[in-house]
Amino acid sequence: MTRDRKLNRLLLGRRILVCGKGGSGKSTLVALMTAILQRKSYQVVVLDGDASNPEGLIRLLFGVGVEGEPKPLVEFFGGVNVVTCPVDDPSPLTRIDDERPVPEHRIDLHREISPEYYLRKGNTTLLQVGKIQTYGQGCDGPLEKVVRDFMIEGEALNLIDMKAGVEHFGRKIPDRRDIILGVLDYTLESVSIAKRMAEFCREAGIENFWLVLNKIGSEEVKSLLMEKLGHLKEKVIGSIAYDQKLIETGLSGNALGECRASTEVENIVNRLEQVVCSPGR
Ligand SMILES: Nc1ncnc2c1ncn2[C@@H]1O[C@H](COP(=O)(O)OP(=O)(O)OP(=O)(O)O)[C@@H](O)[C@H]1O
Ligand SMILES: [Mg+2]
Repeated sequence: MTRDRKLNRLLLGRRILVCGKGGSGKSTLVALMTAILQRKSYQVVVLDGDASNPEGLIRLLFGVGVEGEPKPLVEFFGGVNVVTCPVDDPSPLTRIDDERPVPEHRIDLHREISPEYYLRKGNTTLLQVGKIQTYGQGCDGPLEKVVRDFMIEGEALNLIDMKAGVEHFGRKIPDRRDIILGVLDYTLESVSIAKRMAEFCREAGIENFWLVLNKIGSEEVKSLLMEKLGHLKEKVIGSIAYDQKLIETGLSGNALGECRASTEVENIVNRLEQVVCSPGR
């Protein structure tokens, strides 16, 4: 594959939220997309926004050998006792020593955030909002507020691995400037969730809502899914075949390298570069 230096300006400085049903393949898609985006010379900031899955995305990106987890990003903002749930308190996230809202006064990733908060590989930086650590810790709202407001300066493309389901829409985490990528596996639940996400995006004025079909074992499955999606089939920007190798690599704890799905994911990234539009156009 050739190294493509012509970047789509509309993707730079934007956030792609990878959403969908539990187990549909969100983290897998994030890891595979990261590799493609890196090859295309994007600066990629990957944010693990899932409070439940310990180390899942780290392993997919860096493999089991990686030393230590990055410090939870929520601690940069004062920890879960300082950061509030966005439903209880919609006010924007602020730094602990600065009252200006982070979404407006963006963070200089390398000057402000110390390396203990991230892992780096080439032009990719991985951060994680934080994980549920203790019994009775409370709701993950504070962690989602970090997902909502964490914005860095510059032209990096932010790829966010969201937690399963649609609760983040209920909390107004996705913003009209975001690009929402919904992942569907071969189930009716995935279709229902995609339809609900489409409705939430419409309500929120989010124009960039696209779908990826994953774990597609046959043309029959694909056409059934497309039929069930109805008019939403226009939103499908690509599909990834069912691939036993992805399961084996994931189970072994190795990083996802070049695989059959890479070509399909490269097509998805290329398609995304074509379809994405500027917000509020
Ligand atoms: N195209 C595929 N073919 C076969 N297996 C796949 C494919 N994509 C993902 N998987 C497998 O499905 C399982 C779930 O994938 P993954 O963890 O990426 O999903 P997820 O949506 O992030 O899950 P969660 O909701 O728990 O965060 C893993 O075992 C993964 O290897
Ligand atoms: Mg996941």
